[in-house]
Amino acid sequence: MTDVFEASIEYPDPDARKRLAQLTGIDDQRTRLEKGLMLTLDRAAIERWSTQHHKQVLPLIAHFQARPPLFLLAGDVGTGKTALAESIGDAVARSANIPVTLHRLSLGSRGSGLVGEMTQLVTTAFDQFVEAARKSSGKTGQAKAGHILLIDEADALAQSRETQQMHHEDRAGVNALIRGINELAEARLPVAVIMCTNRVGAIDPAVRRRAAEILRFGRPTTEQRLAVLRKGLEGVGFDEKQLAALVDATGARKSEPGFTYSDLTQRLLPSIALDAFPNTPIRFDRALAIAKATNASPQFNEGTGD
Ligand SMILES: Nc1ncnc2c1ncn2[C@@H]1O[C@H](COP(=O)(O)OP(=O)(O)O)[C@@H](O)[C@H]1O
Ligand SMILES: [Mg+2]
Repeated sequence: MTDVFEASIEYPDPDARKRLAQLTGIDDQRTRLEKGLMLTLDRAAIERWSTQHHKQVLPLIAHFQARPPLFLLAGDVGTGKTALAESIGDAVARSANIPVTLHRLSLGSRGSGLVGEMTQLVTTAFDQFVEAARKSSGKTGQAKAGHILLIDEADALAQSRETQQMHHEDRAGVNALIRGINELAEARLPVAVIMCTNRVGAIDPAVRRRAAEILRFGRPTTEQRLAVLRKGLEGVGFDEKQLAALVDATGARKSEPGFTYSDLTQRLLPSIALDAFPNTPIRFDRALAIAKATNASPQFNEGTGD
């Protein structure tokens, strides 16, 4: 594919499997996304299930199959949306026993640029995506391969058409997106679209309405921070009381929200190691001081999403 997309990822993939396994505290979102993708990439699977458990293809299945294959991952920064979207294909490929390809379109870096650019980009992306899916889809309706289109940082595009300041061009971009999603819903190909956004309220209601699922991501709770720190500090030798103190230090403060997952894994844990390197082992008092001196990522203004 041309430069509309970043490098695609083919699953199964051992790296993706590892990254997926490292995600903590988002099992519910993971399960729902995996099932949703399974059912869109292997459309006959739910009929098989129905026949097995109800001795018939239940009428409600038709409703399932009519859903646009769109999954919206929404929530705060650093909560695993991109990480999940870029690794879940591995689980799907292994369960459905078909190769799955992820086509990645990241809008965050694109800016609004020239007139027609966003619209053209989205239209081209959907066209190329459908083309790739058609090439690898079997004649019998049994999928030989699945394709996922990831639109990351989707708020750059799918902003509410109701937003006052929205330029004419942005609106056209949203319309192109809606058109693409509608066409996919009718094409009955083994394809799915995942959109990630930090501001679900900024996503156009017409796009939100089409989503088969809107999965919400939040900052880790006390228990989830404990799970991340326990895993991240394995082998360091902190006891339960010390871990609890770190969990406490990474929680909400007077004027600040608690740490995000990425604040823990990408900022705090590396800082702790770096502080000790190269001459001393990791010590609890230093780790705690670093946790206290680290500020959590500011909360994204979510907008007024449903
Ligand atoms: N639930 C999680 N469990 C463990 N690590 C996480 C989790 N969420 C995020 N991370 C870490 O933070 C990094 C950035 O997360 P990312 O998926 O980019 O966040 P988002 O897309 O929601 O802003 C991930 O690559 C991972 O290392
Ligand atoms: Mg992201």
